[in-house]
Amino acid sequence: MKLAAACGCLGGAWTVYRSSADSVMRSKMRKLFMTGEICLKRRVRQGKEVRVYPQVSRVSVYHDCVQVVFILPNGLDPQEVRKREWIFEQTFGDNIELSGSSKTFTLNIYSQDVQRFDYDPDAIEKAVEGLRLPIYVGQSRTGNEVYDMTEHPHLLVAGETGSGKSVALRSIITTLIRTASDRLELYCADLKRSEFHLFKGVARQVVVEAPQLHQIVLKIRKEMRRRGDLLDRAGLANIDDLPAGERPSYIVLAVDEVALLKKERELMEGIEEISAIGRALGVYLILSMQRPDSDVLDGKLKNNLTVRMAFRHSDEINSRITLGSGEAADIQQSQKGRMILKLDGLKSVQGPYLDIPKAKTLLEPYKSAEEATAAPPIDSEPEEDDAIEIGVL
Ligand SMILES: Nc1ncnc2c1ncn2[C@@H]1O[C@H](COP(=O)(O)OP(=O)(O)O)[C@@H](O)[C@H]1O
Ligand SMILES: [Mg+2]
Repeated sequence: MKLAAACGCLGGAWTVYRSSADSVMRSKMRKLFMTGEICLKRRVRQGKEVRVYPQVSRVSVYHDCVQVVFILPNGLDPQEVRKREWIFEQTFGDNIELSGSSKTFTLNIYSQDVQRFDYDPDAIEKAVEGLRLPIYVGQSRTGNEVYDMTEHPHLLVAGETGSGKSVALRSIITTLIRTASDRLELYCADLKRSEFHLFKGVARQVVVEAPQLHQIVLKIRKEMRRRGDLLDRAGLANIDDLPAGERPSYIVLAVDEVALLKKERELMEGIEEISAIGRALGVYLILSMQRPDSDVLDGKLKNNLTVRMAFRHSDEINSRITLGSGEAADIQQSQKGRMILKLDGLKSVQGPYLDIPKAKTLLEPYKSAEEATAAPPIDSEPEEDDAIEIGVL
């Protein structure tokens, strides 16, 4: 059974295996050994036959695989197991891998693979219903993966070039705009100048250079201070606790290719401050980069980016830098948009595909007429001392 082709039909049963894998698998395996007569037959007194079956020694659950190790009784020909591989296939589907030599066998049962899929605005809207600041991640084998940014504040998107980071940001931001525009103030920085132009006139600001981004970060810091004072006066801990009429918008700052800001120390310090105190103040970060090396991302900032989307990484070491686990290096080059999501544990997720023309069409209704033509030039930006405007998008 080929590993890469391991995308059979475990489907809904997968959830059951994961949650009660140990006992379910042990009894399933016993039944299989019995029906397949994978056993050692011994004659004892009065011509009676005793059957000795293999023993399951271990059941392990990994993010995309359940592994069962079993041991044959001495005297049982390993070929008897090999010959009956079809029995395991009949039960678990063709997404299995059986390996073993003389005595110890390992059966890997892989989960159903999620295929590529296109961004479906209606389905996604439904999937995120009720969330304050919804992040639609994609589909895992158990269904849609979504979370609320107000509960899991700062997001790091990492992966090698061409793995799907920008498409993910495009889809995430489009969902935010379409489902939370009444309570969102969005800032986008695109240092590669290739991506975020489509949010012009929809986001509050879209910038392509470090000094412009620095201005935004300064404005946000000032606004955080204002919000902090507001909470102090009200004796509250979070802007969500304020009465509906007084609640300021959520601020989201999305930066594609943060590594290009490596030398901007002051700017990165500002971003770190947002990561440290933004949560209670309704200010959130979405940062993307190939890999969060310590020379790009200070340890404190990285620790505050608690949600990770790790697209394909070139090797295990790089994957560990992002995830603390090597799994993102197992993603194939052809698996565009595939990620390991670190939220509550690790999960393999396929992000939706959203191309620029479709995103433009979806965002059209959210474009403000006067800003649709051009982003405001930097010199028309308010001075550092001006209060930030709070409004819709
Ligand atoms: N979720 C996805 N589903 C299908 N194809 C994707 C997906 N994400 C990315 N791709 C393909 O991979 C290409 C590179 O993706 P991109 O997001 O630009 O990579 P990165 O920003 O990591 O360099 C895209 O142009 C697209 O063809
Ligand atoms: Mg990109």
